[in-house]
Amino acid sequence: MSEGKKKVALWDAESRRTYKRLLGYSVRFWPVVLITIIGFAVDGGCLAFFTNKLRPIIDDLFAKKDPYLIFWMPIWIIAIFVVRGVATFVSNYGIGYVGRNVVQLMQRDVFAAYLRLPTTFFGNEHSGHQISRITYTSEQIAGASTDALKVAVTEGVTVIGMFYVMLSNSAYLTIALLLLIPAIVLIATAVSRRYRMISRRIQSMMGSVTGTVEESIEAHREIRIYGGQQQADERFKQISDRARYLNLKIIATAATSTSAIQTVGAFALAGLVFLGSRPSVIGSISPGVFITVLTAMGGMLPSLKRLANVQSTMQTGIAAAENLFAVIDLPPEVDHGTKVLERTKGDLRFEDVRLVYPRGDFQALVGVNLHCAPGTVTALVGRSGSGKSSLVSLLPRFNAPTNGRILLDGENYESYTLPSLRRQIAWVGQSVVLSDGTVAENIAYGELADASEQDIMAAAEAANAMEFIQRLPQGIHSPIGEGGNMLSGGQRQRIAIARAILKNAPILVLDEATSALDTESERLIQQALQRLMRDRTTLVIAHRLSTIEHADQIAVMEQGRIIERGTHAELMALSGHYAALHRMQFNERPTVVAAD
Ligand SMILES: Nc1ncnc2c1ncn2[C@@H]1O[C@H](COP(=O)(O)OP(=O)(O)O)[C@@H](O)[C@H]1O
Ligand SMILES: [Mg+2]
Repeated sequence: MSEGKKKVALWDAESRRTYKRLLGYSVRFWPVVLITIIGFAVDGGCLAFFTNKLRPIIDDLFAKKDPYLIFWMPIWIIAIFVVRGVATFVSNYGIGYVGRNVVQLMQRDVFAAYLRLPTTFFGNEHSGHQISRITYTSEQIAGASTDALKVAVTEGVTVIGMFYVMLSNSAYLTIALLLLIPAIVLIATAVSRRYRMISRRIQSMMGSVTGTVEESIEAHREIRIYGGQQQADERFKQISDRARYLNLKIIATAATSTSAIQTVGAFALAGLVFLGSRPSVIGSISPGVFITVLTAMGGMLPSLKRLANVQSTMQTGIAAAENLFAVIDLPPEVDHGTKVLERTKGDLRFEDVRLVYPRGDFQALVGVNLHCAPGTVTALVGRSGSGKSSLVSLLPRFNAPTNGRILLDGENYESYTLPSLRRQIAWVGQSVVLSDGTVAENIAYGELADASEQDIMAAAEAANAMEFIQRLPQGIHSPIGEGGNMLSGGQRQRIAIARAILKNAPILVLDEATSALDTESERLIQQALQRLMRDRTTLVIAHRLSTIEHADQIAVMEQGRIIERGTHAELMALSGHYAALHRMQFNERPTVVAAD
C-alpha cells in the first residue's frame, strides 16, 4: 500500500496537454462525435424524464384515477423507452466507432515511429515494451478518449436531470444531496490518483510480460536442450504474479470506491427519509412527491458512481497516451544530407574515424584510417569485439562517427541524403531476417519489388539458390513460412545473396556471411559471393581467413584500431598479427586452409 502515500498531481499542465492532444485524435471524427453526444444526452435525459412521470403515476393516475393519464401513460412509457433505445444504439455504436478509429490511429503512429526511428532506439529497450505499446497500451486509449465521454455525457445529463426532478418536486428534500455530493468528490479524487499510479506500473509490467514470452518462444530450442523449463516457468510466474497483483489492486480500488459510494448513498437516502418524516412537513409531502424524489436520488447513485470512476479511466488513458506520445515524438534518424547520390563510383575513405557508443560511453573505434579503392575487396579480420561490425555499421549511417569523417567519391558521406546513400549499399549479414512471403517476394524485397521475374530468376541463379528453389513445390513462388523458418541457414543466406545481386549496388558489405555455414553450403555461397563481389567496392568480414586470402587488402583490427594492413602475401611476410592468426587457424583447421 506504499503507493498511496506518494501523491501525484492530477491534471497538471503536462496531463492536460496530453489529454488535449488525445482529444485531437477524436476530433477528426467530429460529426460522429456530435451525433454520439446527442445520443448520450437523450439516453440520460429519458431516464430523468421517466422518473419525473412517477409523481403523476402515483398521485394522479392511481390516487385520482385520472382517465386521460390512464389512457396516455402506457403510450408515453413506450415512447420514452423507444426513443431511449434508438439513442442508446446510435451513441454506443458511434462511440465504439470513434474509439476503434482512435486506437488504430495511435497504433499506426507508433508503428510509423518504429519504422522511422534510428537503429540505436531498438537496443535501448526490451522489444517486449515495443510490442506491448501496440498490443496493450494503445488499447487503454480507447477508454480515455471515448468511454470517458460516454460516461461524462450520459451520467452527467442523468445527474443533472435527476437533480432537476428532485428540485422541482421538493426543494426541501433536495437538501439531502448536501450529504452526498462532497463525499463523492472526495472518493473520486482519491480513487483517480491511485488508478493513475497503478496503471503506469501495469503498462510497464505488460511490456515485461510480452518480453518474457517473446524470449521464451524464441529460445524454445535452448530451453529444451538445456532444461530451462523450470527457470523460464518461474520467471514468467514472477512477472505474471506481479501483473495479477497490480490488476487486483485496481479491482480493489474500484470495489472500495463502489461500496464507499453505496454507503454514502445509504446515509443520503436515510437523510431523505429523516427530512421527509419531520412532523412539520410529513403532512404536506404527497407519497408521489416523496417516491419521485427518493427514486431520483436512488437513480443518481449509479451515475455518480460511474462519474467518480470516469476520472480513473481518463487517468489510465493519459498514462498510456504519455507513453505512446513519448515514442511518437522521438526524433527520427538524423539526415542533414541534401545531395542525391545517383550511383557512387565506390571510392570509400575512412579518415580518423572514432565511434563512441552512448551506452556505457564505450569506445568501439579509436581513429580508423582506411581507403577502399573502387571495385576492390577489403577484408576486415580480428578478434570478436575488435570493432569490425561497428566499422561497417557506419556505412548505412546506422551510427554516425563521433569524430573523423567518411568520404565517398571524395565527399563527406553525410552530405548525401540517407535514402540515396542506402541505395548504394547491399548487405549480407550473419543472420538473415526474411519476411513471411514467397521466395520471389523475399528476393525482390522493398524497393526491388517491381523487378521482373526474369531478373529475380537470374539473381537466384547467380546466388546458387536455384538449386534448392527448383525443388520447392511452386518454385520461386513457394511460400517460405513465417520468417523463412522452412529454409536452412545456407538457403536463407543464398536468398539474401540473391537479394543483394538483384540490388546491384556499387558497395557491398559482407559481415560474417558464411561463418554459420557448413563446408558444403559454404562452397556454394563462396562461389556466389565471388560473383557478387565482382566490380563492387566490397568490405568483407570473415572469420575463416582462407576465404579472404585473395582480397586486395586485408586490415587487421584490434580494440577499435587497424593495426596491420596489406595483401595476404605482405602480411604473411611481416610475420605480425595476421601471420599469427593465420598460423593459429592453420593448426586448428588444417583441412580448410589446405583445401583452398
Ligand atoms: N550498440 C552498442 N552499444 C554499446 N556497445 C556496443 C554496441 N555494439 C557493439 N558494442 C561493443 O563494441 C565493441 C565492438 O563490437 P563489434 O563491432 O560488434 O565487434 P566485432 O564485429 O569485431 O566482433 C564490442 O566490445 C561490443 O561490445
Ligand atoms: Mg561482428
